[in-house]
Amino acid sequence: MILLVFRLLCLCILLMGGFSASVTQATLQSDVQCYDWGVWSEGSVRVYDGEVAWLYCPLFSHPTLYIYSQIQNSSLSLLWYRHTHTHELEQPINLKLHTLHKDREYLWIQPATEQDAGLYICMLRNISSCVKIGVELEVIHRDGECDFRARPHLNISIPFQSERTLTCPDLHTLTLPNSTHSVTWYHWCRTDGFWFTMDRELKGDDVVIYRMLDPYAGVYTCVVSYQMNGRMLNFTRTLNVTAVVADIGNKEPLILNPAKDQIYSVTLGGRAELSCRVKLPYLNDEKQEIWWTIDNKTVEQLADSRFTSPEAEFVSGYYGDQIKERFLYVMDFSADDLQREFQCSARNSRGFNTSRAVLKAELYVPTLELGCGLGVTLALMLMMFVIYHVFWLELLLLYRSWFGSDESYTDDKKYDVYISYARNSEEEEFVLSTLRRVLETEFGYSVCIFDRDSLPGGTITDDTLRFVSQSRRLVVVVSPCSAVHGTQALLELQAGLTSMLHGGSLRVVLIQFKPVRRQSWVKELRRARLALTLIRWQGEKSVPLSSRFWKQLQLELPMRSNTHHTDTHTPLTENTHNTDTQLTDIKQT
Ligand SMILES: *[C@@H]1O[C@H](CO)[C@@H](O)[C@H](O)[C@H]1NC(C)=O
Ligand SMILES: *[C@@H]1O[C@H](CO)[C@@H](O)[C@H](O)[C@H]1NC(C)=O
Ligand SMILES: *[C@@H]1O[C@H](CO)[C@@H](O)[C@H](O)[C@H]1NC(C)=O
Ligand SMILES: *[C@@H]1O[C@H](CO)[C@@H](O)[C@H](O)[C@H]1NC(C)=O
Ligand SMILES: *[C@@H]1O[C@H](CO)[C@@H](O)[C@H](O)[C@H]1NC(C)=O
Ligand SMILES: *[C@@H]1O[C@H](CO)[C@@H](O)[C@H](O)[C@H]1NC(C)=O
Ligand SMILES: *[C@@H]1O[C@H](CO)[C@@H](O)[C@H](O)[C@H]1NC(C)=O
Ligand SMILES: *[C@@H]1O[C@H](CO)[C@@H](O)[C@H](O)[C@H]1NC(C)=O
Repeated sequence: MILLVFRLLCLCILLMGGFSASVTQATLQSDVQCYDWGVWSEGSVRVYDGEVAWLYCPLFSHPTLYIYSQIQNSSLSLLWYRHTHTHELEQPINLKLHTLHKDREYLWIQPATEQDAGLYICMLRNISSCVKIGVELEVIHRDGECDFRARPHLNISIPFQSERTLTCPDLHTLTLPNSTHSVTWYHWCRTDGFWFTMDRELKGDDVVIYRMLDPYAGVYTCVVSYQMNGRMLNFTRTLNVTAVVADIGNKEPLILNPAKDQIYSVTLGGRAELSCRVKLPYLNDEKQEIWWTIDNKTVEQLADSRFTSPEAEFVSGYYGDQIKERFLYVMDFSADDLQREFQCSARNSRGFNTSRAVLKAELYVPTLELGCGLGVTLALMLMMFVIYHVFWLELLLLYRSWFGSDESYTDDKKYDVYISYARNSEEEEFVLSTLRRVLETEFGYSVCIFDRDSLPGGTITDDTLRFVSQSRRLVVVVSPCSAVHGTQALLELQAGLTSMLHGGSLRVVLIQFKPVRRQSWVKELRRARLALTLIRWQGEKSVPLSSRFWKQLQLELPMRSNTHHTDTHTPLTENTHNTDTQLTDIKQT
């Protein structure tokens, strides 16, 4: 009951003519949903500023639900709305404006100005049903009276030698408003061309071409003028006329590639690119197909992502005949693919033709990948080179810590380093306060210094020889004083060099605390110099443990698995460990 009252209320509102989008909203509640067909782009209208425009309600042609003559007697009424950019909601058209006029399924705008451009909506409705659709009106500004570069309203193809009558498009709709009219024709915006020719003439409102020739192609413009309610109105239409080859002879598609004895080379592992070129004769805008098959299967049927074939592309045209090209791309072309049957086919209403592509494999030369790889390799090498030159010491130390072996595992020597130096010299201070401390406490080496470690009472020569042979390295701090004959330093050096030269497992390392002239070196040292490493102390610069001096020295000394603590003893054999403790005991006494 309430619903009925509500419906009556709605009916009243509708009858009062208050049609607007808000009503559409309200009617939703009363079960009347307005079915919206959206905007029909094909129905859009393009007119010049100041000319007549008329909009046709597409509901009578698309989606063809209604026939206008049947609407008249039914409860349905046709209404026009406008959707402007300034108003969110659709506005009913004000038909009281003298330029707007509704006539059957048309809405006339006489004349249209740029303000009239926009979306127009035509709606058919009764109390229980509603449907609407939109059409766009485009109003374009025109420079001059005629413009053959304008987008044509109509494209026409006329076969050579044939006859055709050109009628100004939309002229027939003019019979609806009672009027008299005139039509002016232009070809390339000229009116004089229509005279003095046998094959083309103006006849009434139309242009008649008796025999199509190439010069008759081009842009035609027609302007229709008429009188309406004492006003002069006009509208312009542009036609693009093209000459096409006559429909005679063989019109089957002709496959140009793959040709009979054409061989497509493909690279195994690479991307194969097969081209199919087909000449498609002009057939009055008929859709003609070109496609590839692989073992009688189209790319779609094959559904293999390695195979792709984009739409055919236009290559060239000649009076409507077209040459089109369609590619087949095969990624990672395999030897198995070589056994497959690649065929290009083309079809139109007049026939079908197909041609098989003969393939030949080529060796895969991945130039790009190779180039990239080479580039990357070179860049890496350059980087490594730079890194090596800046950090070579660190790298060598790192390498040794990973791959080197602790010599103490394989020999039974007591000391890592025996330091030989000239007594009572600048070097002595350096050896006792810096070198020894760092080697023992920072790097954890067992260091032998003759004056400290030798037991009183033994013969110096024997003890020296014994200590040197008990050491893995002999570090000789070169100084001018070590050249003095008969000194302890010279004795140590001789012992070391002898041991080294006779295949002993001792290595001699030279440290230069102060620059010493080569001539002042002892004969033995000069001889052995080339085989020995000389590490230079560079004053203040060499003091930090991270300096080049210490790294170089570390590199020359035996490898220590833990180089920073004396407390953690290198794992020596039980036996040597004991002697070590004995030794420290003795030293403490
Ligand atoms: C409209 O209806 C009237 C009577 O109701 C009928 O005479 C007429 O033929 C109808 N017209 C059309 C176009 O259906
Ligand atoms: C409204 O129009 C539809 C057709 O669109 C028709 O089926 C329906 O009967 C009409 N309703 C009334 C109340 O006339
Ligand atoms: C007319 O059609 C021909 C062939 O389709 C085209 O090349 C030409 O650009 C068109 N002219 C205009 C003004 O659209
Ligand atoms: C006319 O042909 C041109 C291409 O030459 C096309 O862009 C245009 O949409 C066509 N116009 C009509 C009305 O079919
Ligand atoms: C409409 O045109 C016809 C002839 O085409 C004429 O007989 C009739 O009087 C005209 N009507 C009006 C209203 O001008
Ligand atoms: C069309 O109408 C406009 C304005 O009404 C006028 O300026 C123009 O000359 C007319 N064109 C023709 C060909 O009659
Ligand atoms: C493809 O079809 C043709 C004819 O239908 C046939 O002769 C040919 O053997 C087929 N090829 C393959 C690979 O199936
Ligand atoms: C296919 O085209 C060739 C020329 O490329 C032609 O010789 C052959 O007759 C055509 N076949 C068919 C079936 O149309």
